[in-house]
Amino acid sequence: MRTEQPKMIYLKDYQAPDYLIDETHLTFELFEDHSLVHAQLVMRRNPAAGTGLPPLVLDGQQLELLSLSMDGAELGAADYQLSDSQLRLQPKAASFVIDSSVRIHPESNTALEGLYKSGSMFCTQCEAEGFRKITYYLDRPDVMSKFTTTVSAEQHRYPVLLSNGNPIASGPEEGDRHWVTWQDPFMKPAYLFALVAGDLWCVEDSFTTMSQREVALRIYVEPENIDKCQHAMDSLKKSMRWDEEVYGREYDLDIFMIVAVNDFNMGAMENKGLNIFNSSCVLAKAETATDAAHQRVEAVVAHEYFHNWSGNRVTCRDWFQLSLKEGFTVFRDAEFSADMNSRTVKRIEDVAYLRTHQFAEDAGPMAHPVRPDAFIEISNFYTLTVYEKGSEVVRMIHTLLGAEGFRKGSDLYFERHDGQAVTCDDFIKAMEDANGVDLSQFKRWYSQGGTPRLSVSESYDAQARTYSLSFKQSCPPTPGQKDKQPFVIPVALGLLDGQGGEMPLRLAGEAAAGGTSRVVAIDQAEQVLTFLDVAEKPLPSLLRGFSAPVKLGFPYSRDQLMFLMQHDSDGFNRWEAGQQLAVQVLQELIAQHQRGEALVMDPRLTAALRTVLEDEQLDQAMVAEMLSLPGEGYLTEISVVADVDAIHGAREFARRQLAEALFEPLWQRYQANREVSRSSPYVAEAEHFARRSLQNIALSYLMLGDQPQVLAACLEQFEVCDNMTERLAALAVLVNSPFEEEKAKALASFADFFKDNPLVMDQWFSVQAASSLPGALERVQQLMQHPAFTLKNPNKVRALIGAFAGQNPVGFHQADGSGYRFLADQVITLNALNPQIASRLLSPLTRWGKYDSARQGLMKAELERILASGELSSDVFEVVSKSLA
Ligand code: TRP
Ligand code: ZN
Repeated sequence: MRTEQPKMIYLKDYQAPDYLIDETHLTFELFEDHSLVHAQLVMRRNPAAGTGLPPLVLDGQQLELLSLSMDGAELGAADYQLSDSQLRLQPKAASFVIDSSVRIHPESNTALEGLYKSGSMFCTQCEAEGFRKITYYLDRPDVMSKFTTTVSAEQHRYPVLLSNGNPIASGPEEGDRHWVTWQDPFMKPAYLFALVAGDLWCVEDSFTTMSQREVALRIYVEPENIDKCQHAMDSLKKSMRWDEEVYGREYDLDIFMIVAVNDFNMGAMENKGLNIFNSSCVLAKAETATDAAHQRVEAVVAHEYFHNWSGNRVTCRDWFQLSLKEGFTVFRDAEFSADMNSRTVKRIEDVAYLRTHQFAEDAGPMAHPVRPDAFIEISNFYTLTVYEKGSEVVRMIHTLLGAEGFRKGSDLYFERHDGQAVTCDDFIKAMEDANGVDLSQFKRWYSQGGTPRLSVSESYDAQARTYSLSFKQSCPPTPGQKDKQPFVIPVALGLLDGQGGEMPLRLAGEAAAGGTSRVVAIDQAEQVLTFLDVAEKPLPSLLRGFSAPVKLGFPYSRDQLMFLMQHDSDGFNRWEAGQQLAVQVLQELIAQHQRGEALVMDPRLTAALRTVLEDEQLDQAMVAEMLSLPGEGYLTEISVVADVDAIHGAREFARRQLAEALFEPLWQRYQANREVSRSSPYVAEAEHFARRSLQNIALSYLMLGDQPQVLAACLEQFEVCDNMTERLAALAVLVNSPFEEEKAKALASFADFFKDNPLVMDQWFSVQAASSLPGALERVQQLMQHPAFTLKNPNKVRALIGAFAGQNPVGFHQADGSGYRFLADQVITLNALNPQIASRLLSPLTRWGKYDSARQGLMKAELERILASGELSSDVFEVVSKSLA
């Protein structure tokens, strides 16, 4: 807990460090009731930061200082000043060595930052500012050092002792202890430091790099999980090959290790040569992990591996530059996943996620630019904006420069900045220099927050055979930013003729037509594009592949959207047309619901989805995506005032209408796909993901009706399958069904069978917490008493409380405010246990601006109650105070 007022930190105040740390020699002595950390820092004055010898200010928190010396001379209390967060001393020469010993308490560290215990294993999480909870240090990413680490622990409890780099020595010690020394030859900032000690088993493999070096690959897990590592290992090898082929990047150490831990605040961490993962992002096998979990493991393994270049070899100068590594690396992992699976489906999933969650963040009180300019607690800025929007910004550069130009830029970036800590400007500069382009206006994507709106209107002149598109862009104000300058918005577009064919594109000023799809950069507040030789009035296909993270407005009629759904050559826009059609139909139903009228659904939605369902040529994953109506979260995001009950009622009504009208094709598709699932073993590959996703969405529609053969099929799928994808989907639809007896039986048998597998139990908690049936809060409160639940494990908190507050709008937004009160209570408890998790958990309360005034009042009252609840962590304080400002 903080004892000083939390302080705002500004990008504009950045100053280079006064001192550098050339070498860092660490020794850890791990014990059950405390640990000792000895650090030897070989330091010198930073020549780039001025002259003279300013005081040395080391970061340190929750450390018990046992001894301190400079150049071998022990310092007394008069020689330094100590506060909660800093150790200040006066160097006497330009080069010197600091030795310190501290006592820390990993065994009682529930914040899961610094050195802590997950079960019986020791592990670390240092990003962003956790290293200062391990030893006194210059804990900032622009201080890079060569690390040597010795770990000493009891031999029988901790046979495996790991750190970054290569093992260089080891030996026994008295008292059944042993030690291992690791050396990392690469300079790195402290946030990439890692240490692991435990009784771990490992799966081993190897990879031959493009220059024929052998790299040992190891995935370390607790013994009971040794059978769930193969998928992560395969993903790792694919990632290593892909980064060589697509970016020319080779791995640089002789060993690459992944360790799975159960207690982890985020998904995973890219520590040099020793990635530490949330076990949910490593472990996967057919019987216990869904298709979605398999794809997440593949993506996260790739993401962390790719950081070895985009993050580690080239790192961030300061934490305002976080998107330099995260936005770029998310873009890299998204392209990897697109290459490994279905490109269009990956794009659809990412865009749906961005528009639901990042757009909501951009419209809320925590909105910030991709490169923020101020923060209180950096942990609060590992956001959808920095990650997902940051990735969209890199994608736009890729779109504008083309794959080859982008590769020239990334080559120059890696070459120019290898071993350095740099900024987003350096990244852009490399892209500019390699391509001879000017991206200065484009850089507004880094400095201006908020989601731009792009409104488009058309006019056709049959006489002159010209077609014009007028673009108007604007961006709403965000905290601290009232007026926005125009962005550079790459719009990929095409024109369809009356038969659905692609028309050749010739813009005014061009000698001849070139291509049928192209990218135009819209960079003015208002801008008109005129196409020549346009023989008939076309239908425009705009923002193909979602070429920019904007809200597009074009006055499409429903018939035009149906036409685009069938004919657009861009798969993403075919899906998008279906979504926009569904949005129009659902918004009409929402309005009827609000007026208290009987709901009547436009039959064109049914007709459009019937065509999709009957199209045997269409990729099954696309069929499944097109059958998925826009989520309640997205419908909330696009509402001015979200009416939770009307949104839910309208969407459920539409689902029932579709289920009834499309029973035959749904049942036929279900049975055909289920038959393949039943008769062939599970395979974690795209075409099989596609088959199962259509099978399962069909089942979820079919279960809305009351045909007994469907319930029988659902129960059969639940009981007779070799994989978690089918089993969990069947369980989820049962949980949301009125069949109380079958539901109770399925939930009980599932929990009984999987009670010892925490990741499967997380799924069991989630499907119940996300069920919109009445009594959700009581259900969640009861489940908190279940022996498998604990507030100390972030996965459990996310699976139960996070799913309730984030994925169950009717349950959470109960008009009496009970959902809000419950969430605030959990935030207050977690604030003391794990501030990062508390702060993330409270984000649904920050969205009060979207709801009616009664709910707004209730939500704000809970935020006030949190604020008044006593000693708040800087994490929770920042989010609550900004939400109330
Ligand atoms: N750098 C990690 C990533 O790959 C993010 C991360 C992992 C993190 N653990 C964390 C960030 C704890 C803050 C705190 O994206
Ligand atoms: Zn990352």
